[in-house]
Amino acid sequence: MKKKLIIKICEKNKKKFSQIIRNTKFEIRGMLNSELLLVFSLASYLNINQIIESGRARGYSTKILARSFLGSEKYIQSIDYDRFGKDVKFSEKNLKKYRNIKLFYGDSIQLIPKLIKEDCIVIIDGPKGERAIQLALKILKDKRVKIVFIHDLHKNTFSRNLAEILFPHAFFSDDKNFVQKFKDLDKPIWEQVRNTGRAPYKRKGEKSESYGPTLAVIFNSNTIFDNLAIKNYIKHKSKKEGIKNKILKKLQTGSLVTAMIRESLVAIKHKLKRL
Ligand SMILES: C[S@@+](CC[C@H](N)C(=O)[O-])C[C@H]1O[C@@H](n2cnc3c(N)ncnc32)[C@H](O)[C@@H]1O
Repeated sequence: MKKKLIIKICEKNKKKFSQIIRNTKFEIRGMLNSELLLVFSLASYLNINQIIESGRARGYSTKILARSFLGSEKYIQSIDYDRFGKDVKFSEKNLKKYRNIKLFYGDSIQLIPKLIKEDCIVIIDGPKGERAIQLALKILKDKRVKIVFIHDLHKNTFSRNLAEILFPHAFFSDDKNFVQKFKDLDKPIWEQVRNTGRAPYKRKGEKSESYGPTLAVIFNSNTIFDNLAIKNYIKHKSKKEGIKNKILKKLQTGSLVTAMIRESLVAIKHKLKRL
C-alpha cells in the first residue's frame, strides 16, 4: 500500500478516532495515539477481525484498540510474558470491562503462530529491536497475517536500518507528512510525560531524528520472501548464533521449568525496580 493511501485512510478515520481517545488516560510505556490511529484505520480498511498484540504492559494500546472496535466483530488477543509484575495486575483490572479483549500470558514467539486462526494483523511492542524483526519474519510466512506493526523503530538505530533493508516497502509513523497531519492527537500524551525526557523529536532527553518511538507498518503483500536481503539475514542468524542468543532461544523454546525461571527473573526485575 502506498504512503498516500495510508495517509488518506487515516485522515478519513481521524475524527472518529479523536472521539475514542478523548478523556482516556495515557499509561507509561504506551504507544502514541497517532501510531494507534494507523492500527485502527488499517484494520478497519482491510476489514480484519483478528488483532493480535504482543506486549501489553499497562495496556494503553490494548484499551484504545478495545474502545476503537467496540460493537464490531473485531477482537483483540493481547500477549505478555510478565505474569507477576505490577503492570499485569493494573492492566488486568483496567481491561476487565472490555468484552472484545482476551489476555494471554507467555512468549509471543511461541504463542502467536498458535493464535492465528484467520486473516489478522499483529502488533509487536515487545520483544523489541532485532528480536521483534525476527518475530515479524517468522509470522509473515503465514499469508493470513496481513500486516505486522513493529513499535520502537527510531531512525538512526541498528534495528531501524535493518527493518528498512529487510522491508523496503514499510511505512514508518515518523514520516514527515504523517506527523504533520496527526501529531495533534498526541498532545495530551506529551503533556502527561513532560517530566520524563520524552517529547517530540526527543528520546531519553536527547535530540532524536524521529518524532516519536515510531511504528513500522509492514504489509505482507509487499514482502517478497525470496528477497535476497531476507534470505541472507536468516542464513546469517542461523550460522552466527552468539552465546547470548543461544541462551535466549533456549529460554524461549524451553520446557515449563525454563519458562518459570524466565518469569521469576522478570518478577525479580520488577521487585528490584520498586526498591
Ligand atoms: C512497551 S511495553 C508494551 C506497552 C503497550 N503496548 C502499550 O502501548 O501500553 C512492552 C511489554 O512487552 C512484553 N514483552 C517483551 N517481550 C515479550 C515476548 N517475547 N512475549 C510477550 N511479551 C513480551 C514486556 O513484558 C512488556 O510488558
